[in-house]
Formats: sequence, structure tokens, C-alpha cells
Amino acid sequence: MSRSFGATRAVQDISFTIAPGEVLALVGENGAGKSTLMNLLVGALEPDTGSVRVAPPSGPHGRRVAMVHQELSLFDNLTVAENLELDREGGGAVVSERASRASARSVLEHLGVDVSVDATVGSLTVGQRQLVEIAKAVSVSPTLLILDEPTSSLEGPQVALLFAAVRRLAAAGTAVVFVSHRTEELFELCDRLLVMRDGVQVEFGPLAGHTRASLVESMVGRETSTLYPGRAPSLPPEPEIELVDVSLAGRLHGVSLSFPAGAVTAVTGLDGHGQTEVAEILAGATRPASGTVAVHGVPVRFSGPRAAVRRGIGYVPPDRRLDGLLLDGSVAANATLAAAPRVHPRGVRSPRRERRVVQGLVQRLAIKASSLHQPVVELSGGNQQKVLVGRWLLVPGLRVLVLNDPTRGVDVGSRAQIYAVVRDLAASGVAVVLVSTDMQETLGLSDQIYVLYSGRVSGRLLAADATERDVMHHAMGGDARA
Ligand SMILES: Nc1ncnc2c1ncn2[C@@H]1O[C@H](COP(=O)(O)OP(=O)(O)OP(=O)(O)O)[C@@H](O)[C@H]1O
Ligand SMILES: [Mg+2]
Repeated sequence: MSRSFGATRAVQDISFTIAPGEVLALVGENGAGKSTLMNLLVGALEPDTGSVRVAPPSGPHGRRVAMVHQELSLFDNLTVAENLELDREGGGAVVSERASRASARSVLEHLGVDVSVDATVGSLTVGQRQLVEIAKAVSVSPTLLILDEPTSSLEGPQVALLFAAVRRLAAAGTAVVFVSHRTEELFELCDRLLVMRDGVQVEFGPLAGHTRASLVESMVGRETSTLYPGRAPSLPPEPEIELVDVSLAGRLHGVSLSFPAGAVTAVTGLDGHGQTEVAEILAGATRPASGTVAVHGVPVRFSGPRAAVRRGIGYVPPDRRLDGLLLDGSVAANATLAAAPRVHPRGVRSPRRERRVVQGLVQRLAIKASSLHQPVVELSGGNQQKVLVGRWLLVPGLRVLVLNDPTRGVDVGSRAQIYAVVRDLAASGVAVVLVSTDMQETLGLSDQIYVLYSGRVSGRLLAADATERDVMHHAMGGDARA
């Protein structure tokens, strides 16, 4: 199959097969054409040339295709049960509310997800939302299941739930396509491999025989350097910004955290234990019920995120589409959203300067766009994420950068670039705060790690000698629970 968008040849002459019970890994750099190919496969996009051929269904229920899209698609203001009800097949049939809640509950239980069906989706963590979408797809017992980066917001135990479900389905004959930039996951789950580069198929065959390095090389066409840059030489004792005895109704209980300039401080824990709330409070998006936020020891109160930005505090939210990007805005507009003083000095609009600054950013982060004027909604998921992070590199006088899952859906090569940039920012004196569902990233990128459990600090570790086990020990409650 082939498919172009204007001059962009997103998918060029791709041919592959997938058998019942097989789990196929689909990999490639950001913008390689993976999501486009999957949309062609399910018929959500029309191919320019080529077609899909399917064997006649063998089971009694015919063919059922389910796809978990890369971007979350649930309705925020509806409950979990209402969302699951929405696109039930045979819509139109009136189902009692009770029946709908019961069926939603069984869908979640089947996957092992502990989320109330009466919760509004907006109140869930991004990881929980991703699990609800997965539960919905898995619940129809599809014959073909497509998972386009289903794990980008999931932490370890949540990934395990998904993998167990995929293995059950595959054992029962479901064909699965799995897209992920977390290479370790592919080896755990997949049998075969399809590698795309710039729309072209570079490899289709068994995954066995590949190493992590050889897989990455096949994807990017060259060997890659190390993923994580060095760490800060020392941890400055004075905080740039700190939380002192902060509480938030039911979510945080007397949390005190200190974030020094020049270092990367991770705040981690199992999903929903307060990390995101800490990030939002630092970014001025949430106001604590009690306790203080202090900058250089002076208490501050932000009326909102804009007020925090004026104080030099930047925020990368965990869901780029919800509160990060202006989707219809251009790459340039999104990149310069918080950088007016830099691109338009003394308040005078300077399109030429803007172009030069954005061009530099696009090169530095290898953002793939047809032009600086392309609407970000047309960029691939990973490239949207790069714009979201890159925005803060253009802000003069940045003091604090709060990153909530900054490399969500970003390919390995670009992740290394983002990590290098984050380390440069820290080295230049920025206090970086990292909240990440990716444990490797938490351990690899940070200098110190705070672990939260049930809205309380359960441990503080120096990242250089911390292991995944140490972090998990505290994330499960640590000594406090024993
Ligand atoms: N609706 C669209 N209009 C214009 N260009 C598009 C559109 N959809 C995709 N593209 C372009 O097609 C190319 C492939 O995008 P695609 O989303 O398939 O990449 P991907 O492999 O899924 O990347 P990622 O890992 O970042 O999700 C990109 O250059 C992208 O900008
Ligand atoms: Mg994609």
C-alpha cells in the first residue's frame, strides 16, 4: 500500500502479512509512517494504491477489528461507563444505566483495571485513561487488534496488565500489531517485526536474532550513541523552588520537596500516588489546599500557569492534546507560544527572527514537518511531542522546567536528543523536575529521586546508585508500610 499527504510520501509500497495468533512489532522513527499504515489497514484512511486482503473468518462471530489509537479519544466530561457505552456495536439500542455500568465494570475487571465506572474520565490519570481505552478494544475479543503506542503513558504494573491481555488474545487466535518506542517491550511481547523508515519498508521478518542495538540501527539506519547524558557533578543544597508541607484534598498529605537549580529531580511512584499533582502545583495549574510553594525561600502564589510562566517556570503536561498544543496552530506558533520576548524583542513583531529561531529548534530536535507553517495536528505523534518540549528551549530566563512524561511517544534517537537538551538546561542553572511513567528514564536522566506513596514522600534516593528495585520498594510504601 501507498499513501501520500501532499508532497509527503507517508507510506510507500509496504507489503506485509499477519497470521492469527501472531504479535507483530511495528517500529520506526517518529514520522516513519506507522500510524498512517495502521489507519490504512483498518480502513480509516484510503490508500492511493494497494489493498488489504483478509482470509475468510473462521470463527462464528466473523471478523472484528479493534484499534487503540495513539492519541486518547475518550470524552473528559463523561463517566467511564458512559464512554465505554458510547460506541458499543448496535448503538441505538437503549440499555439501562444499570446494565451499562455492569457491562463497563466487567470490561475493566476482565483487564484487571481498578478504576471506578462512575468516575468522570477527566478525573483519571492519563495512564488510567489509556487503560480504559485498551479495555474497550480488548473487550470485543477482536480477530485483529492494533495497538498504536498503547503504553506511552503506562507505568510498569499497568504495562503488565496489557501484556497479559495481549497474550490471552493471541493464544486464542487474535492477530496483534503492536507499536512502541519502548524497545524492551517489543522483545517481551512480539514474534515478528516490520521496520519502516521514511515511509519505506526496510525489514519484515522474525524478531528473534535482533538485539536492542541492532533493532535501533535498523530503525534509524545508523548506530546510535548512548541514550543518557551525564549527571550533575554535585547536588546544590539550596532549592530553587520547593514545596513545604503541601497538602491537597485526598491527594497529597504534608509533602515537602526541594528542587535545586542545576539538577534534575525526579518525582516518581506508582500511577496516581501524587506525582502529577506535584507537577501541577509547581506549574501553577493547581493550588495547594495548605502548605507553601517557595522560590528562593520566598513563598509564592500563582494565580494560574501563565503567572508561573512569568516567573520563569515552564510545564510540559502529560497529555499534549488536552492542555499542551494549539492543534490548529502552526509549528512556529506552537513553538513560540511562551517566547515572545525572544522572537519579538521590545514587543516588535519580527517574522524573520521568529523563522530563524524556530528553524534552529526544528534542526536541534529533528522535528519532521513539511514547513514551519504546517498545523501541528498534521505532525506525527512523536513530532508533536518534540514541539511541546522544544517550546521551553526558546524561553529566555527559564528558571524551572517541569516535565511530565516528556518523551511520550518519542523515538529512541530523538529521546537521546531531548535528554541532552534537558541536561544542558540543568547545567545552565535550570531546576528540572521530572515526572515520568518510564522507570528507565527516571533512573537514567535524574540526579535525585523522590518517591511518593499515597500522597506522601516514602523515599529520597540519589539516582546514580539507585536501582529499579530501590524505587519500587519505596513506591509500594517502603518501610513506612511495614
Ligand atoms: N493528515 C495529515 N496531513 C499531512 N501530513 C500527514 C498527515 N498525517 C500524517 N502526515 C505525515 O505523514 C508522515 C507519517 O506520519 P505518521 O503519523 O504515520 O508517523 P508515525 O510513524 O506514526 O510517527 P510517530 O512515531 O511519531 O507516531 C509524517 O511526516 C506526518 O507529518
Ligand atoms: Mg504514530
